[in-house]
Amino acid sequence: MAANDQPVRVALVGAGEIAEVAHLPAWSAAGDARVDVLVDPNQERAQRIAAEFGIPNCAVDFEELLQSGDVDAVDICTPPHLHAPMVLNALDAGLHVLVEKPMATNLLDGEAIARAARASGKTVMIAENWLFSSARREAEEIIRKHALGQPFLVKARHESSLYVASTGGAPAWTFSPDTAGGGYLMQAGIHTVALIEAMVGPFQEVSGYTSAGNTPPDGFLESTAVLTALFESGALGSLAFTARSQHLGPRRLGLELFFDKGSLELDVWTGRVSYTVEGRQTTVEDANSSMGFAEEISHFVHCLRTGSEPETSPARLLSSLKTVFAAYESARTGNSVRPSNVASTPAPAGAKEVDASGD
Ligand SMILES: NC(=O)c1ccc[n+]([C@@H]2O[C@H](COP(=O)([O-])OP(=O)(O)OC[C@H]3O[C@@H](n4cnc5c(N)ncnc54)[C@H](O)[C@@H]3O)[C@@H](O)[C@H]2O)c1
Repeated sequence: MAANDQPVRVALVGAGEIAEVAHLPAWSAAGDARVDVLVDPNQERAQRIAAEFGIPNCAVDFEELLQSGDVDAVDICTPPHLHAPMVLNALDAGLHVLVEKPMATNLLDGEAIARAARASGKTVMIAENWLFSSARREAEEIIRKHALGQPFLVKARHESSLYVASTGGAPAWTFSPDTAGGGYLMQAGIHTVALIEAMVGPFQEVSGYTSAGNTPPDGFLESTAVLTALFESGALGSLAFTARSQHLGPRRLGLELFFDKGSLELDVWTGRVSYTVEGRQTTVEDANSSMGFAEEISHFVHCLRTGSEPETSPARLLSSLKTVFAAYESARTGNSVRPSNVASTPAPAGAKEVDASGD
C-alpha cells in the first residue's frame, strides 16, 4: 500500500478507447496518484498511449503484473467478460480495484464481485461516471433548493447512432452476449438505470421490450429497448434506449423528473439542466460541464485513502445489473419482473468460472 506521503501507484488494464479518451486524462489530472503501468496484449497500442500520457512501463500479461508487487491499485478497462476474473484475481493479490461498467456479464459474477469486495477490506469501485456528472450534481442541488421531494414520474431517453449503417467503430466484443453480457441496454442503458436508482431509488418491477434491428453480425443483441417501471417509491417510469438514432447532433442522454411542485430535465452529455418551478422555467448551461470521469477517479483515490465505501461500490451497483437482467427476463417471458427476484443467470457457456469465497 502506498504510504500516505507517496502517490498511489496504479496499473491501467486495457488500453482501449475508454482508457485513452476518459480514464487516462482523468488520472493525469488527479493529484495523489499516478499510472505507472499500462497493461494490454496489444503492445503497439499500449506503447503509443503510454508515450502520449508519459506512463513509464507497459506490460502484456495481467497475472504477471499482479505478482510484481509494483502497484497498489488496478483500473480495469477491458471488455466486460474479463471484469469478474480480473477483479477477483486483483483482490487475491491484495490490490484496490476500479473497474468499468458493466461490472460483470452475468449476475453470478456480479454477486461474486460484491462478496469478494466486502470480504477483502480493499476499495472496490465501479467506474459509473454518470453518478459523478455535473448534470446530476446540478439537478440534485435544484431538487434540494426548491424542496421538490420525490418525483411521481420518471422519463428517460438514451439515444445514439452507434449501430447506424456502418458499425465499423464499435469493437467486436460489443456484438457477442458472452463478451458484452447484452446489447445496448447492458452496454449503455445501464448508465441511465444506475443514475435513476441513485436519484429516485430502487425499481420495484419492470416490463421490458427489446428489438435487435440491424445489430451485426446476426441481429442477436438488442439495439433498442423500452422499459416501463414501477419504483419502490410509488413513482412510475418510462425509459427508451436506442443505438439506431438518425439524429445528427450530440447524443441525447436525457432524464426527466416530474414532481408535484415542478419538473426537471437533465442531459448528462451536454451537462444542461432545465427546470420549471411554480410556472417559471430556468435553464442552466454549465460551461465546465463534466461527464464525471475526473470526479470518479478522485472519489476512488479518496475512498482508498480514507477507507470509506465508494458511492458506486459493487454492493450498491448490483441493483442496476439486476434491473437490466429483469428487463431481459421480462422481454423473454412477457411478464413483468421484480429486479429483487431476478434469477442469478448462469455464466455464459465457456466463460471462466469465478469463485469468490467470502461468506
Ligand atoms: N463509462 C463509459 O462511458 C464507457 C464508454 C465506453 C466503454 N466503457 C466500458 O469500458 C470497457 C472497455 O471498453 P472500450 O470501448 O474501451 O473497449 P476497447 O475494445 O476499445 O478496449 C479494450 C482494451 O482491452 C484490451 N484487452 C483485451 N484483453 C485484455 C487482457 N487480457 N489484458 C489487458 N488488456 C486486454 C484490448 O486489447 C483493448 O485495447 C467496457 O467495459 C465498456 O463497457 C465505458
